[in-house]
Amino acid sequence: MTSIVRTLRSVLRFRRFEIDPVARRLSRAANVSDLRRIARRRLPRGVFDYVDGAAEDELTAARNLAAYRNVEFRPRVLRNVDKIDTSTSLLGQPLAFPLVLAPTGFTRMVDPEGELAVARAAARAGLPYTLSTMSTRSIEEVAAVSEGRKWFQVYVWRDRGLVKEMLERAAAAGYEAIVITVDVPVLGRRERDIRRGFTLPPKMGLDTIVDGALHLPWTWNFVRSEPITFPNVAGNSAAYGADPLSLTDFIDTQFDAALSWDDIAWFRSVWDGPIVLKGIQTVEDARLAADAGVQAIALSNHGGRQLEGAPLPLELVGPVAEAVGGDVEIICDGGIRRGSDIVKAIALGAHACMAGRAYLYALGAGGERGVDQVLSQLHEGVRRTMALTGATDIDGVTADLVRWRNQTSQ
Ligand code: FNR
Repeated sequence: MTSIVRTLRSVLRFRRFEIDPVARRLSRAANVSDLRRIARRRLPRGVFDYVDGAAEDELTAARNLAAYRNVEFRPRVLRNVDKIDTSTSLLGQPLAFPLVLAPTGFTRMVDPEGELAVARAAARAGLPYTLSTMSTRSIEEVAAVSEGRKWFQVYVWRDRGLVKEMLERAAAAGYEAIVITVDVPVLGRRERDIRRGFTLPPKMGLDTIVDGALHLPWTWNFVRSEPITFPNVAGNSAAYGADPLSLTDFIDTQFDAALSWDDIAWFRSVWDGPIVLKGIQTVEDARLAADAGVQAIALSNHGGRQLEGAPLPLELVGPVAEAVGGDVEIICDGGIRRGSDIVKAIALGAHACMAGRAYLYALGAGGERGVDQVLSQLHEGVRRTMALTGATDIDGVTADLVRWRNQTSQ
């Protein structure tokens, strides 16, 4: 009997009960997929589906993730990985590890602090934050809370006066670069949003009220905070008024589908800093971007939200790096869920990655602290993968550390 007690005493350790519910929730999230599961439980279905959903059958979105599973490491051992340096540079400025927070619109639907929470967490993690044109906090509000690196993403409005004014505001507020998103001449067909009747501004109907009642903590936060607006464009945009519009109507009336390569010269004339083109999907267009003199390109299919059947950014990295890697910096955007994904993209020739949903799930699961946690888990994942593959710094993350299992992902 005494030996049973002694044995049990030697092994029994109870976790201290965590009183803080956010910390308790986050302590159970070991990875992005856990954060997604928690966000799915906490957010109303319409909001979760807006974040999680993608175009048509969502095959491209799924393949973005599957592509990373199709790359294997060729780890080198006995390389003294006692000290690992994950830092690197992008657009001539430092970053703690090769990641940029992608622009995402409507962030306040996920959490009342919205873009402010994400920008603060990015600054703490030593990473650039990209603010969307369609943000729910203004260019100036974000600048006021973040001393970190900030980029401004531009959707090209038909009204070029409005675009110019936004760029002037971004320059005055200390944003270092602009990211011109070129893969939304029209909106992709996001069928979850169509089914749910997603509109701008969000409208309340019987179904949304029921959904809200089923997600009371979110609803309580939502109704206590001020109404959601788009402060970068509000007041200037005729279409953004009292009547709710579907996202398709909004974008198809406001965004300039006539945008072409000639317009890049116009951006050069109104913006002094670096320019990133986001949404490049072929080697040919990567070459045109380099010829147009932009500093960086983001290989991206918009997280599978635009053209269903688009190429996968990870599969483009190698060929694009070979064609223009010496002329422009290459960012691989879409499907990043782990630090090891980032290491794979870098090994194939990217200078950095961008991630969107990873931080939005974290924001939905645990607010600003959730974003801190996911960025620190991604950083730790990069560090650990480098140690396990025998790379001590980012320059040492080279093509010989990986190989494709086979090129077709699904
Ligand atoms: C986006 N994305 C996006 N891109 C952009 O240029 N401007 C924007 O306003 C938005 N808005 C937006 C909202 C939401 C909810 C999501 C999920 C995505 C695309 C984003 O910048 C990025 O390309 C993808 O999120 C990358 O894929 P992952 O990381 O989500 O897999």
